[in-house]
Amino acid sequence: MEDRFLRACRGEEVDAVPVWFMRQAGRSLPEYRELRETHSILEMCRTPELAAEVTLQPVRRLDVDAAILFSDIVVVLEGMGVDLDIEPGTGPVIEKPIRTLEDVERLRPLEPEEDVGYVMETVRALRAELKVPLIGFGGAPFTLASYLVEGGPSKTHGRTKAMMLGDPEAWSALMDRLSNGVLRYLNAQIDAGAQAIQLFDSWAGHLSESDYRSHVKPWVDRILDGIEGVPRIHFGVGTGELIGAMSERTDVMGIDWRVPLDDGRERAGGKPVQGNLDPALCLAPWSVVEARARDILERGRGVGHVFNLGHGVLPETDPDVLARLVDFVHSWRPDE
Ligand code: CP3
Repeated sequence: MEDRFLRACRGEEVDAVPVWFMRQAGRSLPEYRELRETHSILEMCRTPELAAEVTLQPVRRLDVDAAILFSDIVVVLEGMGVDLDIEPGTGPVIEKPIRTLEDVERLRPLEPEEDVGYVMETVRALRAELKVPLIGFGGAPFTLASYLVEGGPSKTHGRTKAMMLGDPEAWSALMDRLSNGVLRYLNAQIDAGAQAIQLFDSWAGHLSESDYRSHVKPWVDRILDGIEGVPRIHFGVGTGELIGAMSERTDVMGIDWRVPLDDGRERAGGKPVQGNLDPALCLAPWSVVEARARDILERGRGVGHVFNLGHGVLPETDPDVLARLVDFVHSWRPDE
């Protein structure tokens, strides 16, 4: 069934549980590593033929039920006028970090087709090729703000929290610009043909629920409420305590591997869920992977469940394990 992914996102009956993997396109695939020898990540994101090719690689190899656009959450920032790079093994690095209200005012409003038109071109090219649904995505404002304020990846998000609590004027100006930009970006992807959207708030799990609700959620709500006509998936890492708050305005709640899937669904008010095999387990013997996957499927009970990992595929993962996992998920039935 070609639309089992979209049906599961809407909580409808499916012929088999759909499955895709966060970071399914990437360093675990030899064909991706080969292209990376001659192109940087940002170059691949900016070149529709390359971005489309890399998006298709896991679809060809793994029989997954959805494709995720190959891009990066920081692409939208570049479109808003930020100088940045993605350093292999490190992640996004920002040339001039944003620390004050004046810095925030340097962020330009996003005109998606002008500033990041190559992304929409990639989406259009992919829709012409793909038989499975295409997921578009963006970063949520807290996670994007953390890269901008820290200047790169951070273990503590210290400067970001200091701005959030110590300079409310700069913080709300930053969240306002980011949420407007991301919303326009996501709706442009939908207009170009994206059939679902995933909002990644990868680092929101570093916040308490009360800070999340006061200083982040209003802007996330603006994005989720403004997305038009396709299922919305909301995901973060280590967000067990935030599932209630994060799931209020979304259609599907992404659950990382720390929370049992059925417990996560309950915390999400019974909504459809996506997840949640620990990506590290894909390096363990197959018997371990199969037992854990079966447990997750049983907790999902076959309806309103999109099988995925609890975060992205690790680069060391053998793609044959992912292919076997897809077959296992597809062959599993709720009454077994
Ligand atoms: O297949 C897919 O999931 C689509 C591609 C995708 C990329 N980035 C490509 C990429 C997606 C969905 C992202 C989102 C992204 N980027 C997030 C949110 C998801 C998450 O993992 O929490 C975040 C936090 C980023 C920022 C970022 N970009 C990081 C932390 C890194 C890793 C740095 C490293 O080398 O370990 C990147 C680089 C990046 N973006 C890679 C890929 C495939 C690694 C690539 C490489 O060197 O080729």
